[in-house]
Amino acid sequence: MNICDIIFKTKRKNKLTESEIKWLIKGYVNGEIPDYQMSAWLMAVCFNSLTVEETLTLTEVMRDSGDILDLSNIHGITVDKHSTGGVGDKTSLIIAPICASCGIYVPKMSGRGLGFTGGTIDKLESIPGFQVDIDFEKYIDIINKNGAAIIAQSGHLVPADKKIYALRDVTATVDSIPLICSSIMSKKLATGADCILLDVKTGSGAFMKNTEDAQKLAELMVQVGQNAGKKCRAVITDMNEPLGNAVGNSLEVIEVCEILSGREKGRLYELCIVLAANMLELGGLGNTDNCIRLAEDAITSGRAMETFKKMIEAQGGNPKITEDYSLFKRALYKYELKADKNGYISAMDSEKIGMAALLTGAGRQNKNDKIDSSAGIILNKHVGDYVSQGDIILTLYSSVVQNFYEAANKASDAIEISGVVPKISPVVIQII
Ligand code: URA
Repeated sequence: MNICDIIFKTKRKNKLTESEIKWLIKGYVNGEIPDYQMSAWLMAVCFNSLTVEETLTLTEVMRDSGDILDLSNIHGITVDKHSTGGVGDKTSLIIAPICASCGIYVPKMSGRGLGFTGGTIDKLESIPGFQVDIDFEKYIDIINKNGAAIIAQSGHLVPADKKIYALRDVTATVDSIPLICSSIMSKKLATGADCILLDVKTGSGAFMKNTEDAQKLAELMVQVGQNAGKKCRAVITDMNEPLGNAVGNSLEVIEVCEILSGREKGRLYELCIVLAANMLELGGLGNTDNCIRLAEDAITSGRAMETFKKMIEAQGGNPKITEDYSLFKRALYKYELKADKNGYISAMDSEKIGMAALLTGAGRQNKNDKIDSSAGIILNKHVGDYVSQGDIILTLYSSVVQNFYEAANKASDAIEISGVVPKISPVVIQII
């Protein structure tokens, strides 16, 4: 086989065979195909896409490039959840204890944040003592005991994605539906759960900027999951404004505690109930209405919070953080961004807020950057709120940045104030 023939085929929208896709991925992973030729193929995919059949094959070939986890020692049905990435998205930390306290098992391997989106693992590491690198046997033990564990993805899972994603990141080839689908689904299939719930984000802070593309991605991922024998469902959700009140690692874990204690409601709570209910339904706990009641009851009864404390303790963290927020590293500096006129907040661009949080030290521009767990943003107002000139819209926090000029400018750029009451988009757009 010849790499130029493969690039030509995709460039001319001719379908690749299974053996060509296998040869391409194997050749790239073992170093026989150089970055420049793989980049050319990836760019051809960005322009011309792949067929469903090619995407199914690509996903399976990528999955098979490394370990596939065997979860058969877990004592019941396993349900995983994946979000396509957003700003202020701490849903996994809320949903895992809700579902575990209702009797299903949630084995979850997560990633770190890069760029304007946060990562679940960074959020968990803001809890004093919390360990995310846990060996496989202990991971299974914790899941059997507490119903859930969230750990960092092991180094031997889907090496093809690791290498291809790093190349996509620097060649402007991330935003392709078949490439995103194969990247996410190869990892989900390798991590082994029986059922998969996908939270596909759409809007300013998401890869999919419009609902139509989010639908295409969701349908393709569900098809790939079902084809591989998984029970699979997708929820399309809004990411035009950040999720909840907090963006930044310890700030988000504190918000998780507020939701699990039942004190905070609103869009984040509403989304978590829908996602958890869908996971419970995939796990066989009844119809949607029943599962919504179960999820809500897990919070009001305090069971989800008890499970969250057990999850923290099992992974070496201090469960007292759920009641005493002073145990988190606290930010040394803060800056309040105020409204420069009266009116309704009509937009809060998620991507720009995510960038502003990154500039406070809450995120990474490069893979090896250190993050400040105390840094980030609290949104004092949301889209639809009325503000008077001088009201605080958001507060920036940091222990590493004292001069907030750049971060505040970026945050200010994200916010629009208008004289008319804005239309507020629902947080859950569609279930596929
Ligand atoms: N997340 C992934 O894991 N892969 C992508 O391609 C995009 C988001």
